[in-house]
Amino acid sequence: MSGLLIAFEGGDGAGKSTQAAILEDTLRQQGLRTLLLREPGSTTVGDYLREYLVAKQPISSLAELLLFEASRAELVRERIVPATEEGTVVICDRFAGSTVAYQGYGRGIDLETIDTLNDIATQGRYPDLTLLIDVDPLVGLGRINSRLLQLALPIGDAPDRFEDEELAFHDRVRRGFLRQAEANAKSWRQIEGNRSVDEVSSAIWKEVCSLLTDHRIQSENA
Ligand code: TYD
Repeated sequence: MSGLLIAFEGGDGAGKSTQAAILEDTLRQQGLRTLLLREPGSTTVGDYLREYLVAKQPISSLAELLLFEASRAELVRERIVPATEEGTVVICDRFAGSTVAYQGYGRGIDLETIDTLNDIATQGRYPDLTLLIDVDPLVGLGRINSRLLQLALPIGDAPDRFEDEELAFHDRVRRGFLRQAEANAKSWRQIEGNRSVDEVSSAIWKEVCSLLTDHRIQSENA
């Protein structure tokens, strides 16, 4: 039986990581085999690249793009393809859609170049379902700032190169995600993220249940 690939996408502070963990837990409770991955990262090379990519080290937009794609190529080859081939439901916290949104719409790199590199890095293995958690960047960045306050770090001292970008950058990224959701209506679902964690996870579960039904994947408890 072939497994599934489910990706979470969205801007910084949208709540993807929380929701990805909740979904994995729910699927496991249903008796399904799961694997939770994140981008960049989740391989030896990917974790190494993540350190550089997420920190505020200087880098050109082109080199940044190529490093994200290198991390993805490794993740797809080493973890996603083998896991889905053995029937696992793979959940990925960010995937190729993030590169279109951040490096394409955010940084302004030509979208055709990004599509070509995404096709190569993913080996054409795109998600069966992409859940876009949409929040206004003011809300997402506000959540990050409150987290910084809890950690007793000064506001504006975000440790992440993207969280530190101006609001206009995050608005372009959001537009990039929304355009992809519109253009790929078959496999992308837009989820309103400015709600309670429980409300968002219920909306996500509804979408995942219909994906499982479409693929005739039965949980052990069903
Ligand atoms: P991370 O700490 O994982 O952020 P988040 O929890 O919001 O996912 O950092 C990943 C950052 O890298 C995030 O700001 C988005 C950015 N990114 C890109 O710019 N391009 C990409 O292709 C990917 C996968 C991530």
